[in-house]
Amino acid sequence: MVLFSSLTPVFIAVICVLIGIILKNTRKSSKKEKSDTKNKPESHPWVDEDLRDSTDLHVEEDDIDEEWQGLDENIAHVPFSAECYSEDEMIKRSKEFYELLNKRRTVRFISDEPVPKEVIDNVIKTAGTSPSGAHTEPWTFVVVHDPEIKHKIREIIEEEEEVNYRKRMGDKWVHDLKRLRTNWIKEYLDTAPYLILIFKQVYGRLPNGKKKTHYYNEISVSIACGILLAALQNVGLVTVTSTPLNCGPRLRVLLQRPANEKLLLLLPVGYPSKDATVPYLTRKPLDDIMVAM
Ligand SMILES: Cc1cc2nc3c(=O)[nH]c(=O)nc-3n(C[C@H](O)[C@H](O)[C@H](O)COP(=O)(O)O)c2cc1C
Repeated sequence: MVLFSSLTPVFIAVICVLIGIILKNTRKSSKKEKSDTKNKPESHPWVDEDLRDSTDLHVEEDDIDEEWQGLDENIAHVPFSAECYSEDEMIKRSKEFYELLNKRRTVRFISDEPVPKEVIDNVIKTAGTSPSGAHTEPWTFVVVHDPEIKHKIREIIEEEEEVNYRKRMGDKWVHDLKRLRTNWIKEYLDTAPYLILIFKQVYGRLPNGKKKTHYYNEISVSIACGILLAALQNVGLVTVTSTPLNCGPRLRVLLQRPANEKLLLLLPVGYPSKDATVPYLTRKPLDDIMVAM
């Protein structure tokens, strides 16, 4: 009993020391966790990195505004009304729209016949109706009509394309292509009355100058491009959905677009030339593209 009571203060002291060590370690590990979270790159699944280029401006970390940058939380909500069609009318319209879009083809022979500018304005306004992540509208449509600028664009694209072909292909193939001059020569870049270059804005700028997150910007701009293709088809114009390989940075500089804009697509726009041809292609039937459950 005497031994026990004389040991008690020692025992309590040992327990206290142990608790102290445990608390210290817990604090240390929670501090570490916090600093790990700070050092860990935040997950931004809406940002795609594939179109970074060497002309990017360096953006400081503190340039990123982590405050909520989306829509005003007090935004007014207004009544919505939609067109209402009978079932028969819906079926008819859906069929007609399908038939119209099913006639769309990529046409690489474009005439120089002038196209009314108002039509171009309207198809771009139509593309601008696209949905976008948090309504950021992260697109810029650069419409080039000036023959000199069109030609400079052609020069850049053909130059880069030629390098692509030469690097990738064997000597014999290069020799044959040189004679044929078909693959990297893109005459439509001169002949089409309009070239529409669609840039995705990978981020925007807030009034305070800080970066504004453009959520899912590539998906948003791609949807806008799809709507643009449908709008062009609707007015009887043709285009080539083209992704000029390795040309984005040079074209961006030529067109004086800021570093937050990356070229996504280039669409030459006009009427098909009289002798235009297209490859014979068929489309997958509904059963191959739709899974119903
Ligand atoms: C994302 C994308 C990129 C494309 N890039 C090019 C291109 O760089 N050059 C080109 O001649 N066609 C390009 N095309 C056009 C396709 O070759 C064409 O859409 C496909 O062959 C189907 O033909 P269709 O558009 O007549 O239905 C591209 C199409 C898409 C959707």
